[in-house]
Amino acid sequence: MNASGSNCAEPAFAPGPPLWLLAELTYRCPLQCPYCSNPLDFAGQGEELSTAQWIEALRQARELGAAQLGFSGGEPLLRRDLVELIRAAHELGYYTNLITSGIGLGEARLDAFAAAGLDHVQISLQAADEALNDRLAGSRRAFARKLAMARAVRARGLPMVLNVVVHRHNIDDIGRIIELCLELEADAVELATCQFYGWARLNRAGLLPSREQLARAERITGEWRAKLAARRHPCRLIFVVPDYHEERPKACMHGWGSLFLAIAPDGTALPCHSARQLPLEFPNVREYGLKHIWYDSPAFNRFRGFDWMPEPCRSCAERERDFGGCRCQAFLLSGDASNADPVCSKSPHHDKILAARREAERTPSAADRLILRNARTSRLIARAR
Ligand code: FES
Repeated sequence: MNASGSNCAEPAFAPGPPLWLLAELTYRCPLQCPYCSNPLDFAGQGEELSTAQWIEALRQARELGAAQLGFSGGEPLLRRDLVELIRAAHELGYYTNLITSGIGLGEARLDAFAAAGLDHVQISLQAADEALNDRLAGSRRAFARKLAMARAVRARGLPMVLNVVVHRHNIDDIGRIIELCLELEADAVELATCQFYGWARLNRAGLLPSREQLARAERITGEWRAKLAARRHPCRLIFVVPDYHEERPKACMHGWGSLFLAIAPDGTALPCHSARQLPLEFPNVREYGLKHIWYDSPAFNRFRGFDWMPEPCRSCAERERDFGGCRCQAFLLSGDASNADPVCSKSPHHDKILAARREAERTPSAADRLILRNARTSRLIARAR
């Protein structure tokens, strides 16, 4: 008898290769965004991989089939060997994307990255308003530097996405955010409604927008899309919908261990960048080859396929579309990563989502009350646990 209770044999789940590799080069960052998805105890994580160790991990992942590579962090620009890593990735045949705040870039460095073969740049903005941007970033002059770097990227003809994490403090300004991104000549604008992992989870009540705010923002984004289409403008507006106002979960990572492989600064390999908070033993590229990690490690196989699912996911007609939602969110909200994502209205833990919405409604909207992400607070949190 198979997992679904029938007698016909279901084929065992056979994972394909990882197509996306996220190289989180460092957790260090000059900014302090309160919605960062890095782990709360990032300051206590192990030593970063060396240049040679990163290049070996890139080589192995490419051999497995990874084609898209994101250099991220923290702030990847803090790695002095970034140009070397970009060159190595380019020579290995990756499509390389630098995911950055733009702080610490500079024109000469950008030229060196372009010469090394960098294919694409994603720059984050916090807001269209300078004062709010810099308050959320926890850094004075961040806004001016980001705009200067976005213009420098454009001047070099590199494809550029501007990414804005949208939450209750900037969502009402979405029209101005779009206008700013168009003025900066972005190829695409990712309006990513805040997801509540890491530091964002800590600040959830102060970040979650209301349903009315979201409806308005989606309407304005839709109007802008129509305007751009009428002008045959090439910029794409991508609105990432928020979990906490949905009734069905997202197909997180397109399924655990399905397409996406992340490597944390210390070499821990993860099926998603938030997974290290789960009570699983994740393998490290210092000890194991990526082929073993991807295909054979217990952690990467833990939530593959459908056999691990309890009810209501196990018998749900939608399980092949959403894979039961997000394992990290299931763990954070229900205490068990194998549960259905509480975002789903069929989940017995959906009340946690409703309670979070009510808590956010009661919480005063003050950007200066958010807990900023920095090493000192990270150490205090780690000590308090
Ligand atoms: Fe980790 Fe969804 S964020 S599985």
